[in-house]
Amino acid sequence: MLPRLHLFEFMDLEFFPASMRRRMTDCLRDVEAFTGLFNWAVPLIVELLGASGRRSIVDLGTGSGGPIVRLFPKLVAAGALDDLVLTDLYPNLEAIVAQPGLRYDPRSVDASAVPNDLHGLRVLCNSFHHMPPDLARAVLADAHAKGEPLLVLEALNRDPFAMVASVAVAVMAWILMPFLQRFDVGSALLWWLVPVVPVLLVWEGVVSCLRCYTRGEFGRMVATLPGATYESGIVQTVFIGARIRWFYLNGSANTRLT
Ligand SMILES: C[S@@+](CC[C@H](N)C(=O)[O-])C[C@H]1O[C@@H](n2cnc3c(N)ncnc32)[C@H](O)[C@@H]1O
Repeated sequence: MLPRLHLFEFMDLEFFPASMRRRMTDCLRDVEAFTGLFNWAVPLIVELLGASGRRSIVDLGTGSGGPIVRLFPKLVAAGALDDLVLTDLYPNLEAIVAQPGLRYDPRSVDASAVPNDLHGLRVLCNSFHHMPPDLARAVLADAHAKGEPLLVLEALNRDPFAMVASVAVAVMAWILMPFLQRFDVGSALLWWLVPVVPVLLVWEGVVSCLRCYTRGEFGRMVATLPGATYESGIVQTVFIGARIRWFYLNGSANTRLT
């Protein structure tokens, strides 16, 4: 396992242009949709909602909506979910069209200080590694203090295979992007003529791998929270054998996860 390095990601920089951040999180969302990387998570989330007695999800670090928006109708159809609120430190309200039960909160929501009026299972999909250790612990502490369960999903990992895979996915996105999302002149310029977005995606992918937390590190953060417990697992996906890790914090040991 490589040592953890919290190098910067462009999308975390306050002065990074919102339009560029949007292009990158749009791309991530579209690649996740194309590869079906998180399709397996429906039964897990159904179980966590049932076990925690929640019928709402608050997605933190949602970017352009990510996988949870695609899973939303399936979770509703499974009878487990009534509503989903998307939140981000840098909200991208253009990313979704609100529909019954689904909305994007227009406030800037820091995952470590979620407003008291947002309740439900907190989900962080590919966003927990954006938090340096103190902030990551604060994210867990906030959920624990407010009695809210929290699920972390991470597609990347701190190993060379994940790094190579993240570069391969950026290249795949570079080739496929016109087929995945609405393509305008600006996109064509930034994707192909001066391929700024693909280069940024390679950087973000590799750095994301180095920022991921291991199970042991997550466990040590949870251990600092009185009475908190957690469970975790790894799911091997069909798409390039990616190993997606999940961590679940609920503050009580009453789930039946296997
Ligand atoms: C890699 S993107 C993941 C987007 C989406 N969840 C997905 O899987 O497609 C990470 C997101 O985390 C957000 N983020 C970073 N730090 C945050 C914080 N402290 N609180 C809330 N969101 C944060 C970023 O703005 C970005 O949209």
